[in-house]
Amino acid sequence: MRIGFFDSGLGGLTVLAEALQRLPDKDFLYMADTLHVPYGTKSEEDVKAYIFETVGLMMEEGIDALVVACNTATSIAINELRERYSLPIVGMEPAVKPAVEMNRATGKRVLVFATQLTLQLPKYYALVSRVDEMGIVDSLPLPELVRYCEALQFDKQIINEYFRVKLANYDLDNYGIIVLGCTHYPFYKDILRELLPAHIEIVDGNVGTVKRLSALLSRYGIPGGGGNGNVRFMCSGQEPAYMDKMQKALSILREKNVLTQSLQS
Ligand code: DGL
Repeated sequence: MRIGFFDSGLGGLTVLAEALQRLPDKDFLYMADTLHVPYGTKSEEDVKAYIFETVGLMMEEGIDALVVACNTATSIAINELRERYSLPIVGMEPAVKPAVEMNRATGKRVLVFATQLTLQLPKYYALVSRVDEMGIVDSLPLPELVRYCEALQFDKQIINEYFRVKLANYDLDNYGIIVLGCTHYPFYKDILRELLPAHIEIVDGNVGTVKRLSALLSRYGIPGGGGNGNVRFMCSGQEPAYMDKMQKALSILREKNVLTQSLQS
């Protein structure tokens, strides 16, 4: 029983790390499309081709379920992936709906961080139109954060300054929730937490995704157990240095304490 996780680069590790905590009796294959990272600044057409190429490689390796641990790739290709492959497939979308629901009572606004491509695709527009009847959702792309993450740039001063500039035009008193709608961004949750006013909650879709994965495996009758949290890393560019980088990024995530603390949440 091996579950495939796919992202353009290191971002999907934030989801994999949750899965390792919650599904320790599974084995995993983690695939990064290093030949084409980042996705968020490229065209929909190009990224769609990269996704099918990369997922094709994972299928050749043999997986029993697939997590598209990338909001951008999900927006572009989740339906077609499900049409093409018959295994259980879980995707991700920015957690706009729960954020709007959580903020309804307070009247505060919601700020969604995601890639440029995610924010300009019809799927995102449809999601916001469906759930944001009060018009409280604002969206902000953070392309440099993906680049920082891929370079393992976690220097607090540099990242603080980056957020300071990006958020300069937002009156944070008006916001109640920030949604991390790109799987690279939770690497910076700790820095964001320190920098944001305490009343702002930070949400991502990682725990929800792992719960959906778990439910889907049961629905497909895929038996639990059989694994012990082994992770095999792959990348489309087959760079040995990137294999080390993935290992390192996963340990950084564990050290950074950005994962959900308890299995109850
Ligand atoms: N981690 C990805 C996402 O969730 C994509 C980032 C990128 O490659 O631009 O959207």
